[in-house]
Amino acid sequence: MLKDLPFMPDQASTVSSDVDMLYIFLVGMTVFFVGLIFLMVGIFAIRYRRRSSDEIPRPNLGSLRLELVWSVIPLLISIGIFIWSASIFFEIQRVPANAMQVYGVGKQWMWKFQHPEGNREINELHVPAGRPVKITLTSEDVIHSFYVPAFRIKQDALPGRYTTAWFQATKPGTYHLFCAEYCGTQHSGMRGSVVVMEPAQYEAWLTGDASGGSMAGRGEKLFNQLGCVTCHLPDGSGRCPSLVNVYGKSVKLISGEDVVANDEYIRESILRPNAKIVDAYQPIMPTYQGQVSEEGILQVIAYIKSISPQGTQDSGVPGGTTTPGQTQPGGPGGTNQSTPGGTTGAGSRQSGPGGASGGTNRSGQ
Ligand code: CUA
Repeated sequence: MLKDLPFMPDQASTVSSDVDMLYIFLVGMTVFFVGLIFLMVGIFAIRYRRRSSDEIPRPNLGSLRLELVWSVIPLLISIGIFIWSASIFFEIQRVPANAMQVYGVGKQWMWKFQHPEGNREINELHVPAGRPVKITLTSEDVIHSFYVPAFRIKQDALPGRYTTAWFQATKPGTYHLFCAEYCGTQHSGMRGSVVVMEPAQYEAWLTGDASGGSMAGRGEKLFNQLGCVTCHLPDGSGRCPSLVNVYGKSVKLISGEDVVANDEYIRESILRPNAKIVDAYQPIMPTYQGQVSEEGILQVIAYIKSISPQGTQDSGVPGGTTTPGQTQPGGPGGTNQSTPGGTTGAGSRQSGPGGASGGTNRSGQ
């Protein structure tokens, strides 16, 4: 019924119909009350009109019962709307633990996507149907917003921060992707499509572009190219701390504080190395601001994850990699933030110590 309405986008995700029901209810209720109010205005204007020029109206003493009725009924309706929409909000915010991971970077004026397996695309995102997909977003420049009307999701991509959204597409097809935040002169041209494929087709598509290796593999290459490898020796004998088994772990800082080595922390350490100095080390690392793109940083993070087989299991980083609004209220505090490099990164995992036993089953735990 809903999809026959004009202007209604396809319902192509598991939350689409829930969002639509709420929306239709709000519109219907608004129409009802607008109609009711206009009707009453009309009736009262006729019924209580002034009948002669010297008529004096009777004093109005008010009615407690009437006032209670028009206060309590709207109150109950509002509470109902609140509970209803809050439950949908939680559904949209809570990423299922078995979600597969993709990464998106907004940039004036395009969307760049990466899959942990190594596939990269611009203004197109391929995903399988029937599987929850978690997308981690950031921006190379200004605020953009990742908006897929058919999935009923919209999430800002912020410079200097990681935000997440998730969806589970229900049927194969090609759906519009928009930028929903004014981001400059070509904002309206910043659009693309999300291509939902049958799972088998998707697997074939993934392996179709195996050039360049996995995300973690690219990250390892960057790690070498940028010279990180010369100080961050794997056995800890270098001038900078070893990064093996660091991901998801607690790190002691020179200030006495403990921080969890999550995506945000690694990103910050690459761009602003002096912000948090690891205990017993010198602040000698230069900044890599301007030398590595946001996509590159995501690849380096994927690499560091891939050499932390245990860390990806227990990286219970409550809200660590997300914005405050993104934390999963009462939910499984971020245990699902650990997939990239974990799900795949087959090539690179071999280079990491303990990779052999790390096993593929650690994803999504
Ligand atoms: Cu990017 Cu609007």
